[in-house]
Amino acid sequence: MERVIFTTLCSAFFFTNCVSGDYPKAQNVSWLSINFKTLLMWDPKPSNYSYTVEYSVIGQNRKKNQHCIRTMETECDLSNSLVDLKAIYSADVLSEPLRGVNSDRTEFPHTSSERFTPYEDTLIGRPEFKIEVSKDKRKITLYVEDPLTALFNEQNQQRTIRDVFADELQYKVTFGKATSTGKKTKISASSEIELDRSDVDPGVSYCFNVQAYIPSRRTDKQLGELSQRQCSPGDDKSVFEEYGIGVIATFILLIIIIIVVAIGVTVVCCRRRRNANRSGKEGVPLRSV
Ligand SMILES: *[C@@H]1O[C@H](CO)[C@@H](O)[C@H](O)[C@H]1NC(C)=O
Ligand SMILES: *[C@@H]1O[C@H](CO)[C@@H](O)[C@H](O)[C@H]1NC(C)=O
Repeated sequence: MERVIFTTLCSAFFFTNCVSGDYPKAQNVSWLSINFKTLLMWDPKPSNYSYTVEYSVIGQNRKKNQHCIRTMETECDLSNSLVDLKAIYSADVLSEPLRGVNSDRTEFPHTSSERFTPYEDTLIGRPEFKIEVSKDKRKITLYVEDPLTALFNEQNQQRTIRDVFADELQYKVTFGKATSTGKKTKISASSEIELDRSDVDPGVSYCFNVQAYIPSRRTDKQLGELSQRQCSPGDDKSVFEEYGIGVIATFILLIIIIIVVAIGVTVVCCRRRRNANRSGKEGVPLRSV
């Protein structure tokens, strides 16, 4: 009874406060999505209440994911719920009673997410790649492995980002000579990237970074994560290879001997001069020398 009166008062006077009266509203509701692995995340950890996530394509019926009903977690994996990759989704996080606890309320405090379109918004993770230098050393080929997504096809095989984006997927290579900081870039529509004489000097070691590039997306979502840097082997031998360890050891020994001799000579000279000074004009400051 008390509750009914409270609720009525609430709706009459403090409408906005009332909705979030019992349980705290979810905060910081945000999407975290990499390679179509899409999590909805929020704060804070619940104590004596739970969360339920509802999602929908904008303007359509809301749905629930069975793993995110009255949950004590603060994240919900919606990777396999957002089936239409090009649709615009929105989600709500509702603060509800604990599982098994009944409530006479029909409305619970909720927080809405930003809009999210998997195809446009998921971040593309760092690709792996292999480097191959042609026999005549005039051509370097990078074999990029299209990153796997969290999505599966009808045969239950994991789909790659190439399966999803097809022709819209390109790769951007950033590269430069291992010995310099200068950088060049090259865009490739294929996952097999060839760099020839117009890009690289033969026999020189180059270092490469690769990232996915989807020009059809909004500017700030076009580039994926940078790969690890990898370098091709070059011709230039190191000092050790060139001369061998024996020669270098001898060379170092020679330098040490020269230094020792130099120090010895200096010491002997100084002693002589000091002796000469002492026997001659004693007490004359060095400055006058
Ligand atoms: C929401 O995020 C901000 C910034 O990251 C953080 O300071 C705040 O504590 C978060 N809110 C909750 C309820 O955890
Ligand atoms: C939940 O716990 C907080 C503090 O522990 C308490 O103030 C609040 O009334 C509780 N809410 C419910 C619905 O039990």
